[in-house]
Amino acid sequence: MKTVHLRFLLCLGSLVFNTYAARCQAVQTDRIPSLKTVFQDDFLIGTCLNTSQIAGKDSAESNLIERQFNAITPENIMKAHILHPAWNRFDFELADKLVAYAAKHRLKVNGHTLIWHSQLPDYIRQINDVDSVRQYFVNHIETVASRYDGLIESWDVVNEALNEDGTLRNSIFLEKLGKNYIIEAFRLAQKAAPNTKLYYNDYNIEQPQKRAGAISLIKSIQAAGVRIDGVGIQGHWRADDVPMEDIEESIKEFSALGIEVMFTELDLSVLPNPWDSNIADIGRKAAYRAEMDPYPGGLPDSIQHVQALAYESLFQLFIKYRDSISRITFWGVSDGQSWLNNWPVRGRTNYPLLFDRQFKPKAAFYRVIAAGSVN
Ligand code: XIL
Repeated sequence: MKTVHLRFLLCLGSLVFNTYAARCQAVQTDRIPSLKTVFQDDFLIGTCLNTSQIAGKDSAESNLIERQFNAITPENIMKAHILHPAWNRFDFELADKLVAYAAKHRLKVNGHTLIWHSQLPDYIRQINDVDSVRQYFVNHIETVASRYDGLIESWDVVNEALNEDGTLRNSIFLEKLGKNYIIEAFRLAQKAAPNTKLYYNDYNIEQPQKRAGAISLIKSIQAAGVRIDGVGIQGHWRADDVPMEDIEESIKEFSALGIEVMFTELDLSVLPNPWDSNIADIGRKAAYRAEMDPYPGGLPDSIQHVQALAYESLFQLFIKYRDSISRITFWGVSDGQSWLNNWPVRGRTNYPLLFDRQFKPKAAFYRVIAAGSVN
C-alpha cells in the first residue's frame, strides 16, 4: 500500500515538474520577438511542417510555430507517394489533418507538390505505356487539387522540372507526355482549383542559365493562356556563399513577368559540400566521412556569426523588394528538424535555420529581426 502511495506521489511530482518545465519554455518563446509580426507588412513567414509537428507532440515547439509563422508547407505529407500510394487509392488522412491544423492556427497552406520526379509512388516507375502515365497525371492533379480548393492558399504545381542549363529535366513526365506536360499540369490545376494560387518551384533558378530556362517556361505557360501566379526559389544555399547578386536579379526578372516571387525552402548550410556545385537534388547522395561533419558537438561562434550576417543581408534584400515578394518559407522550424542533417550525407549535424535544437533563437534569428525592424 505504501509503495503504491509513494509511486503515485512520485508520478504526480514529475507530472507537475514536467508541466512546469514546458510552461517555462513556452514563456521563454513568448518573450522573443515574432517573425510574422515584424514582417507583417512585408511578406508571409512560413515553415515546413512534418507529421509529429501537426500532432503538436512538443508543446515548446507548438508554441514557437504559433508565435513565429503564418504560413506552412507540408514537408512531405502532400507528396504523391503519401497522397496516392496505390494506382486506385488516395490517402488523405495526414493531409486533411495538416489542413485542419492550419485552420485552427490561422496558417496559410502552400500545397507541395502536385508534379515532381522525386518521391513518386513506386507503381509509377513500373508503368511503361503513355496512356497510363497520362491517366495517373490527370487523375492525380484533378483529385488532389480539387479536394483542397478553397482550403489551401496555393500549390507548387510543378517542382524541379529544369536542369542546371535551363533545359527540361528528363523525367517520366517529360519522356511519356512530352515537353508540354508542364503547361498541361497548370491547365488541369487551374480547372480543378480555380480558387488556389498556382506556382512553379525549383532550386538554383536564381542562377543565370537556369533562371533563363524558368523565365521561358513561365512565358510559355502564360502564352498558352494558362494561369500561373508565382514562382518559388527554393533557397538552399551555403551560409558562406549566398549568391546575393543573382538573387536580386532574379527577383527583378521574375516579378517583371507579373507574378509573385517567393523564397520557399530557405536554409543556409554551414557544412562542407561534397561537390563543387550547389545542386539540391534529393537523389544525389554522398558517403559519410568524419571530415564532412566538423561540428557534431556545437557550432563555433565564428560560424554562427557568418551565418547570422548572411541571413541579415538576405532579409535586407527581401525588404528592399517587399513589393515583389509574397512569402519567405524556412525549410524547417529548428536545426534538429532540417533535412540537411541527412542530405546529401546521412547522419551529420547541420545548423541551417533560425532556431537551435532546443528551439532557442540563434544569432541569425536576431539579425533577421533587426533587418525587419529597420523599416
Ligand atoms: C525533402 C524533405 O525535407 C525530406 O524530409 C525528404 O526526405 C526529402 O525531401 N526540395 C524540395 C523538398 O522541393 O520537397 C525537399 O524536401 C527538399 C528539396
